[in-house]
Amino acid sequence: MILVIPVGMFIVFRQISTQKGIRVELMETKAEMDGTMVELLGGIETIRTLDSAQAEGGRIEARSEQLRKKEMRHHRAMAFYDCLKFVNEAVFSVLVIGISVVLASQRVITVGTVLTAYLCFTQLTGPLRELHRILDEFSECIVLADDYFRMVELPLDFSYQPQASGPAGRLEGNGIEVCCADFSYPEKPEEKILQGITLSIRPGAFIGIAGPSGCGKSTLIKMLDKLEQAQGEIRLGGVELSRLSRQELAENVALVPQTPFLVADTVYNNICYGMKRQVSAEEVRDAARKANIAADIEKLPGGYAFVLSEGGTNLSGGQRQRIALARVFLRKPKILILDEATSALDNTSEKYIQSEIEKMKEACGTTVISIAHRLTTLQNCDEIIVIDKGRIVQRGAFQELAATPGIFRDMALGIIK
Ligand SMILES: Nc1ncnc2c1ncn2[C@@H]1O[C@H](COP(=O)(O)OP(=O)(O)OP(=O)(O)O)[C@@H](O)[C@H]1O
Ligand SMILES: [Mg+2]
Repeated sequence: MILVIPVGMFIVFRQISTQKGIRVELMETKAEMDGTMVELLGGIETIRTLDSAQAEGGRIEARSEQLRKKEMRHHRAMAFYDCLKFVNEAVFSVLVIGISVVLASQRVITVGTVLTAYLCFTQLTGPLRELHRILDEFSECIVLADDYFRMVELPLDFSYQPQASGPAGRLEGNGIEVCCADFSYPEKPEEKILQGITLSIRPGAFIGIAGPSGCGKSTLIKMLDKLEQAQGEIRLGGVELSRLSRQELAENVALVPQTPFLVADTVYNNICYGMKRQVSAEEVRDAARKANIAADIEKLPGGYAFVLSEGGTNLSGGQRQRIALARVFLRKPKILILDEATSALDNTSEKYIQSEIEKMKEACGTTVISIAHRLTTLQNCDEIIVIDKGRIVQRGAFQELAATPGIFRDMALGIIK
């Protein structure tokens, strides 16, 4: 009777050990497929434009087929082990009844004992089945727990890492100092994206950054906002960048990225996105007016309560940029970094917003760094820094650079090399 337990346990442990890997594989394949679906939905217009629906459908079909095969393999194996468990119980039931009947016929035991033996056996198999179920569920939980611990062990985003030495700093001033900074992306450590960057930006200055596509402009500003980790010395307001916490940077530095990030929420909440302090409806309206988006919002159904779709795709590219810019006027940062933040706007809108940024700069003493391909955007800058292949190659005022032979003049005149 007792032998049914070790044999049953052997089957369960065999089932768990052979199925653990495939459970992980199934989980990862499903996650990958979800990721692919989200990616495809995001690019639905390109898929229509290029008529690549069939190719994408084929790709998904191939993956689904792989997933189906894996699932089938897993379910067949599970059914096989479940069968083995029942066979184990059946074999031992027959053995228990058979042996006890033989013993009763030889009058070693009574007929009553046969019945008792069978009843005892059935009392044993009930909990054994429960134990099998619990062990199986436990193994599934271990797979999920492993995944969770794998995530927990990932290194903390460097941007949030506490300072190794010295107390956390406070950003009082808003000048920027960069000394001999180099940067490479971790996946390509041998390729220097930025090299020997040395900069000194006085508080309240308006600095432009220009250079060919891919030269490292966005990387440079990410490095200044502690979004990428560079080698070298970087100080904001005289404080070493590594001593500034994410919270301190978020309160004082605003970065408007090349592609605005909007959430599937109301226009109002999108403008207030990330604000820690309470803001009044009047402040939000004022910020929208300065970003030249107030009139557009009024025309939307529900106005500020209009709900954006994921990524703000129910707005135009320029409207999305202006909502991202409205956040800046609400925040009134000490340092403002614009990465092609007005690239999708018409000249009139761009000029209006620029004049509002200049007013904010005068009122709050904001240091402004602006990246632009449309060089007219940089006409009013105090100084323009020109980058090429990760190095600063020219710097000076707009007129000065436009008159000097070099990459800036070539860009201004549209000369392709
Ligand atoms: N996350 C990343 N991982 C690896 N390489 C990257 C990453 N982001 C950018 N790069 C590479 O770094 C280089 C500089 O990119 P960056 O985005 O700074 O260029 P950029 O000057 O802003 O260009 P653009 O004017 O087109 O926006 C490019 O060669 C790019 O391929
Ligand atoms: Mg860029």
